[in-house]
Amino acid sequence: AHTSAHQHHLMARGLDNFLVVGDVYRRDEIDATHYPCFHQMEAVRLYTPDELYQTRAGEDLAVFQAVPDPERSKEKQERHTVDAVKALEIRLKSTLEDLSDTLFGTECEKRWVDAYFPFTHPSYELEVKYEGKWLEVLGCGIMEQKLLESAGVTDKVGWAFGIGLERIAMVLYGVPDIRLFWSRDSGFLSQFEGAKPEDDVKYRAISAHPQVLFDVSFWLPDGVGFDDMRADVCDVIRGTGGELIEQVKLTDEFVNAKKGRKSQTYRVVYRSNEKALAKEEVNVVHKAIERELVEKFGVSMR
Ligand code: DAH
Repeated sequence: AHTSAHQHHLMARGLDNFLVVGDVYRRDEIDATHYPCFHQMEAVRLYTPDELYQTRAGEDLAVFQAVPDPERSKEKQERHTVDAVKALEIRLKSTLEDLSDTLFGTECEKRWVDAYFPFTHPSYELEVKYEGKWLEVLGCGIMEQKLLESAGVTDKVGWAFGIGLERIAMVLYGVPDIRLFWSRDSGFLSQFEGAKPEDDVKYRAISAHPQVLFDVSFWLPDGVGFDDMRADVCDVIRGTGGELIEQVKLTDEFVNAKKGRKSQTYRVVYRSNEKALAKEEVNVVHKAIERELVEKFGVSMR
């Protein structure tokens, strides 16, 4: 149900600083920001008292109280000192604010909300402004000391967070609905094809109407190289087909063995936002594209 379940065995193995990525399954409602299967990245950071406080020789700040409080308060667990909780909270929140700034830019509004989670106390959620609404992107908090102890860690304290990866991708690429990540529609998938995570991809709405596929194949004029054609051909197809062109893709290239002529084939995906296109009307546009290509580049249709 969440990647926090992996904290225990990784700490028991001796790790004190890690990220875990996993798929998460929940009997959740389904809407634009919730889906019963999604992905999380979990992070844990443990500190010895020296690492936490960066103390100099002679200074001695404790992370545990000599005598634990009889009960936890809103601010802290029974065993933690106020200093430990403050130092952890500052490190946790500044790390995550930096992460948000790096991912979404400093202009993106963000806010902290108090929360409850079973493995942390105190706990917080980070929300960012997306499409005019606050969207929860992660949960985090000061790790339960009992959890560390049960994994054999007796001398450290730590923070943890769990971040929803689809939610991050929604904000980063402007994807309005989490269900789109399950789409097999090439109108959606092609927008991200070959892109790196840091590329500035912005999602364009896909049409609810079906695609109509046509190929265009031609011989290049003598002396013209494959590379010389590609960008220009795509421009002409998009320029002539206008709004009806959803995708253009080079699907085949070869040199004829006998005559040494070069051939290219492009797949053109037609799709309208307004209606289901008929083959006949697409054919009219496709013929116009072929004429343009012949006139502009001197290719001959195969
Ligand atoms: N497990 C929480 C969830 O799935 C997210 C979370 C909250 C992860 C707090 C953490 C944490 O590591 O410290 O909603």
